[in-house]
Amino acid sequence: MRQAFAVPLLLSTTVFCQQIWDIWQTTWDRSKLFTSLALSTPINFQSPGSIGSADIVVNDTSTYQSVWGFGGSLTDSSALILNNLKSTNSTNYWTLMKYLFDATDGANAAGLNYIRVPLGASDFSASQYSFDDSSGDTSFAKFNIDAAPSYLFSVLKDIISINSLVKVHVLPWSPPGWMKDSGTMNGGTLNSTLVTKYATYLLKCLQGFQSKGLPVYAISIQNEPENNLNASPTATLPAVTEGRIGTALRALMDNFGFEAVKLIGWDHNWDGAGGYAIDLMEAAGDAFDGVAFHCYAGNVTEQDTFHTQYPDKEIYFTECTGSLGSDWWSDIKWYMDNIFIGAIEHNSHSGLMWNIALDGNGEPRYPGTTSCSEGCRAIVQVNSDGTYSVNQEFYAMAQASKAIVPKDKGGPFGKRVKVSVGGDLSWTLRVGAYVTGRASSSDWLRYSLVVLNWYDHPNGSWSPQPVKTTIEFRGMQAQYTFPVGVTTLWWYGMCDVATLAPLSEDTVY
Ligand SMILES: *[C@@H]1O[C@H](CO)[C@@H](O)[C@H](O)[C@H]1NC(C)=O
Ligand SMILES: *[C@@H]1O[C@H](CO)[C@@H](O)[C@H](O)[C@H]1NC(C)=O
Ligand SMILES: *[C@@H]1O[C@H](CO)[C@@H](O)[C@H](O)[C@H]1NC(C)=O
Ligand SMILES: *[C@@H]1O[C@H](CO)[C@@H](O)[C@H](O)[C@H]1NC(C)=O
Ligand SMILES: *[C@@H]1O[C@H](CO)[C@@H](O)[C@H](O)[C@H]1NC(C)=O
Repeated sequence: MRQAFAVPLLLSTTVFCQQIWDIWQTTWDRSKLFTSLALSTPINFQSPGSIGSADIVVNDTSTYQSVWGFGGSLTDSSALILNNLKSTNSTNYWTLMKYLFDATDGANAAGLNYIRVPLGASDFSASQYSFDDSSGDTSFAKFNIDAAPSYLFSVLKDIISINSLVKVHVLPWSPPGWMKDSGTMNGGTLNSTLVTKYATYLLKCLQGFQSKGLPVYAISIQNEPENNLNASPTATLPAVTEGRIGTALRALMDNFGFEAVKLIGWDHNWDGAGGYAIDLMEAAGDAFDGVAFHCYAGNVTEQDTFHTQYPDKEIYFTECTGSLGSDWWSDIKWYMDNIFIGAIEHNSHSGLMWNIALDGNGEPRYPGTTSCSEGCRAIVQVNSDGTYSVNQEFYAMAQASKAIVPKDKGGPFGKRVKVSVGGDLSWTLRVGAYVTGRASSSDWLRYSLVVLNWYDHPNGSWSPQPVKTTIEFRGMQAQYTFPVGVTTLWWYGMCDVATLAPLSEDTVY
């Protein structure tokens, strides 16, 4: 945030080019919780000495995908509970919403930037509904976007009022019940004769959001198309059927002014990366921009199975939930390793948890649902008395988000850059590295690291150990000792040490 020097500072014995002034930290013992450390003196990059126990090497000659953001789903339940907070204690509501979504550089806020919104009922809705529940209305004359609760749209508008860049990704949990062989949104599949009709229904959903002034970034055809439950909205769709709907919807979107909206497939577990996700691309790859993954089966490295075969298609990580009663620090380690560092390392543009807000019991839920038998934990807990708290899901994603939110209002966002970790204790750190471009090409690029130190069990017993680390960048070296926890820090690419000339923008954003 601070740019201390307009020109490189030259000292007689040492050349300082890059400096670290900005550090955000969450520690295992919660003594720091997404805390901004106020450094009185910067950490300088200097001529390299010997390496630390761990040695982070940032190599910005290789850049990868842009990271569009972190967040969760604004389910009907999340919107309801946030809207209740707005009524009970509007000061707390706006404080919380800004803490979640304000992406302003330097703000004490996570800058969450990616929101998934169910189209119609999900397992976190008050009742079963679609946007057209008139049986047999295949012309969708009775389509009504206001079948969704008004609080869904009002809370979404409040989020956008705080963060106008927020990306909204919409998707249904089920087609209208009358379009399915089951006759209900709970389970079953779309009647095979209704593929093109269903594409029209999805177009009408996009038009419904448009009519409310709500921009949509992406649409998926179906949440979890291999999940069939008779107790909550779900629908199965074979890859070939999803492909046919996608092809029809893509054509409609292109004809009705939604050319820029991304079409995303699969939106289910990692273990389908080499199966359904590939089958879908083979069936209808031209229609789809990419696929999305959830965490509930398989593992994050399987994203590579898809990426290797379809390197030009996009990957999104869109859902994982916490369960009530699990261990705070163990969760943070898992989330960083697998999602907020891991999924991004495996080419995802996003990292999302499930519900944005629920109460302390993981409620409210869809009546009769069997989802989340242990209770789903949301990103934030909101209580009926107008108080709230943020959970481990928040701290994990906030640390990651801070590294990629735009330096300049309006963007660009951070891009992943190549990073490796050496040294005797290389395995104690998990590291993501990002470069954030600037509005003006003469401004310094921002380089950020998200570092998980999970060295909490040396020699088999609990004893959290800080790790003395060197950071290598463009021939210079900085030193920092990472406590057990998650640390986000950044510096600006102020000069090229070889020439001591200001760095130029060498990457297209
Ligand atoms: C950085 O990455 C490039 C491309 O992969 C490679 O050629 C170069 O040797 C790397 N530099 C360092 C310092 O590791
Ligand atoms: C809102 O919450 C704050 C902090 O918990 C409290 O100080 C304030 O009195 C509450 N306001 C209302 C209207 O309850
Ligand atoms: C969908 O299939 C179900 C079961 O075969 C049938 O009852 C229903 O009428 C069909 N819906 C439409 C609109 O064709
Ligand atoms: C991830 O999944 C792949 C494919 O099933 C498997 O080969 C690999 O061992 C798994 N990795 C881990 C760490 O579980
Ligand atoms: C772990 O054990 C080794 C070998 O006994 C010892 O050298 C090292 O200091 C121990 N590490 C910690 C963090 O206790």
